[in-house]
Amino acid sequence: MDYVIEMLNIRKEFGNFVANDNITLQLKKGEIHALLGENGAGKSTLMNVLFGLYQPEAGEIRVKGKPVKITDPNVANDLGIGMVHQHFMLVDVFTVTENIILGREITKAGRIDIKKAEQEVREISERYGLAVDPQAKISDISVGMQQRVEILKTLYRGADILIFDEPTAVLTPQEIKELMQILRTLIKEGKSIILITHKLKEIMEAADRCTVIRKGKGIGTVNVSETNPNELASLMVGREVVFKTEKTEAKPKQDVLEVKDLVVKDSRGITVVDGLDLSVRSGEIVGIAGVDGNGQTELIEAITGLRKSESGSVKVNGKELFNLSPRKVTEAGVGHIPQDRHKHGLVLNFPIAENMVLQNYYKKPFSKNGILDFKAIYQQAKRLISEFDVRTPSETALARALSGGNQQKAIIGREIDRDPDLLIAAQPTRGLDVGAIEFIHKRLIEQRDHGKAVLLVSFELDEIMNVSDRIAVIYEGKIVAIVDPKETDEQELGLLMAGSNRKEAGANV
Ligand SMILES: Nc1ncnc2c1ncn2[C@@H]1O[C@H](COP(=O)(O)OP(=O)(O)OP(=O)(O)O)[C@@H](O)[C@H]1O
Ligand SMILES: [Mg+2]
Repeated sequence: MDYVIEMLNIRKEFGNFVANDNITLQLKKGEIHALLGENGAGKSTLMNVLFGLYQPEAGEIRVKGKPVKITDPNVANDLGIGMVHQHFMLVDVFTVTENIILGREITKAGRIDIKKAEQEVREISERYGLAVDPQAKISDISVGMQQRVEILKTLYRGADILIFDEPTAVLTPQEIKELMQILRTLIKEGKSIILITHKLKEIMEAADRCTVIRKGKGIGTVNVSETNPNELASLMVGREVVFKTEKTEAKPKQDVLEVKDLVVKDSRGITVVDGLDLSVRSGEIVGIAGVDGNGQTELIEAITGLRKSESGSVKVNGKELFNLSPRKVTEAGVGHIPQDRHKHGLVLNFPIAENMVLQNYYKKPFSKNGILDFKAIYQQAKRLISEFDVRTPSETALARALSGGNQQKAIIGREIDRDPDLLIAAQPTRGLDVGAIEFIHKRLIEQRDHGKAVLLVSFELDEIMNVSDRIAVIYEGKIVAIVDPKETDEQELGLLMAGSNRKEAGANV
């Protein structure tokens, strides 16, 4: 058989914890091979073993039939293995080209020949359909572009086996389409791909075969043409998964959030929230649907105090919060599940327990007379970890050691548990497995049923349609339509999000 990679009976331990227990994965030449498993199942760990970041305790790796020891990423590179990580590893202040050549600089008389490098980057990017500006600074380009840089980096090093760890979790629907096209081009150019994703639709669409792991153990490998999303979900979770969340009719009461005529500029000084009005009532979930870049990120940052606004009003329970600090906003009863969990959600080098009390550590029962009560803090963490099924070796583990999805579950647990009157959830289920998504949707609806106001922002139209009681469509910094999810469909929403008015979109106005 023509396998380019064989990982045979791999075992990886972290202390007493077994993250990979006897896992086998074989990659055929020219295939897209999906790797599926719940949050914390051990996918990233297994791929980090293949990329030489971790040494396995047992098992064998063969590359093109030959047994190898991949002692570090340079060895992996030399074997033709490249990896696009779940959390990017780029240097923000460097340009695209500088990042791509880092560690592989071409020199001319001892100096880096940047012109030649830029030319090479241009050539590779054209060949694989990966448009980027070689001279742009990383901090100035979009997440989708940064991902392309990561891909180019592996190609520049001559990789023909590419590992993608949840590449679509951080992308918008349009960028996902583009990435799928890029994957197809890579295969056509003779590459082989391992793709980690929680989106079963993507597996069905792009992958040839799929290996499933559950709680560190291999469950098996299936041909994608012979399976379906339901089967994949139950293989991975070990039970049936419900894709549509049941909920009763909302019984909204008074306004909790009232945004009036809000104007916010983005980091470049451009007005991106442009006289926006929005209300969310007690007992309802309002979903914001919009194409990325229409002001949704800045709107959330403005409400939560992370960004200064120019003018307008933001009231929660009648209290004006305009340009107050994040702590003041939190204390006024606002919870926030942030879009960027590393920047605004967690302190990665703190234990997960301390991360669970980031907003209220200075209050009773976590603090008494200015002294932290660690017993109370650890008790709280234990409870949240069990209630929200955060899979971690212990509550003392650093947040950094948790899998991406479990970091997300920890933040959601902390924010929901504070029981805020207004819960703002920005891309809350990003990077979560289907079982965890089901659970989180239930909890959002439960908050609603307890009379809380929930504002949901998501690029997943399925999620918006399933969970919201009202949908507010944002376009060029304004709410241009409010629609009832029962009376709309993805097509109409798509048109509204692209700026056509409701009549044109075919709705009953
Ligand atoms: N450096 C580490 N030290 C201790 N434990 C770790 C470390 N890295 C991972 N783990 C643990 O190993 C388990 C598997 O983590 P891994 O990141 O491989 O999961 P995953 O399948 O990629 O999940 P996700 O879908 O959420 O990204 C988790 O329970 C995690 O806490
Ligand atoms: Mg992972």
